[in-house]
Amino acid sequence: MRTANITIDPAALTHNLTQVKKRAPGAKVLAMVKANAYGHGVAAVLPALKQADGIGVATFAEAMEARQLGWDKAIGLVEGVFSADEWQQAIDNACSCVIHHTPQLNWALENIPAEDSPARQVWLKYNTGMNRLGFDEKTVIEAAQRLHDAGYQLILTTHFANADDRDHPLNATQIQRFSDMLEYLQQHITPSIEGSLCNSAGIVNFSEHHHDWVRPGIMLYGSSPVIDQSAIDLNLKPAMEFSARIMAMHIVNTGEAIGYGSRWTAEQDTRTALVSIGYGDGYPRVISDDAYVCIVDANSNISYRCPIRGRVAMDMIVVDLSAAPVDIALDSKVVLWGAMPHVDEVASHAGTIGYELLCRLSARPKRA
Ligand SMILES: Cc1ncc(COP(=O)(O)O)c(C=O)c1O
Repeated sequence: MRTANITIDPAALTHNLTQVKKRAPGAKVLAMVKANAYGHGVAAVLPALKQADGIGVATFAEAMEARQLGWDKAIGLVEGVFSADEWQQAIDNACSCVIHHTPQLNWALENIPAEDSPARQVWLKYNTGMNRLGFDEKTVIEAAQRLHDAGYQLILTTHFANADDRDHPLNATQIQRFSDMLEYLQQHITPSIEGSLCNSAGIVNFSEHHHDWVRPGIMLYGSSPVIDQSAIDLNLKPAMEFSARIMAMHIVNTGEAIGYGSRWTAEQDTRTALVSIGYGDGYPRVISDDAYVCIVDANSNISYRCPIRGRVAMDMIVVDLSAAPVDIALDSKVVLWGAMPHVDEVASHAGTIGYELLCRLSARPKRA
């Protein structure tokens, strides 16, 4: 049987959540599980994240999935709702919504949840420089006042544009704008307004600005959120292993080329393995020539680093077995990403980020 597997390690998720809590001991944690938990599968991750104070999702459907799976703590809808009907559904399902523009503000003011409803807590989005979601300096004050007067509890929130790069000048601007506004609202409206600024990179790079809620995503899954430290440097463990099996072995003779476009030509007779994985599973076609996989010999359990040769096809890749023993077992496991290579490294060979590789895995691999 063709095998391409996605395996999730709950212990790694819990470990990574613990790292978040160690870095932000005073903050509540909204664990981001949007986009099917960054491709890991919501059902697979929720049990391991039960020590989080809440989860963050991008769509109401994602919130419903989590509720159906039994998640009974806070759910934050980080883009808020898209209609007045959805606002009612958010109330009915105890979701706490971002309010980032006037229509959402109006839906909230026209339909106020019961006093004990979790939907009474709203995340008021302030645009501090990302220029996607959020009210500007003038309108956020008015929105905060109206929401407060209507009985809502407020969390002022914003999102970094460049937190992965600690020295980027916009970070200081965003931090300043956010802190000034939070202080202003606390002084002029109510001291009980909370603040939420940091995603994973902010948690790592701006420890003095964690405020009341942090919102880690990628670091929970074991990837590094910052440009100057690796996942290992940060003591994060990859939560996903993406693997396949050797389906056949060949010798490619000197001068022969491999795969579509005949992109790689053997300079000497080369032992190769055909591996049952391709871009139809979510492995990037644009991977560069220096990319590699790790093959775990089923005979010895020893792992060998083997480069990919030729173009990634829809259903298979070819791997150079020169570094592996001659008697390596057919059916040996081939790790596309996991402990090694790390998804961040694979992403760098594909000109993208780990987030994208994780999120765009297809439905075809078997999920264990
Ligand atoms: C509002 C918000 N907060 C937090 C996060 C988590 O970001 P990261 O995965 O970089 O930690 C995201 C993800 O894009 C987000 O949109």
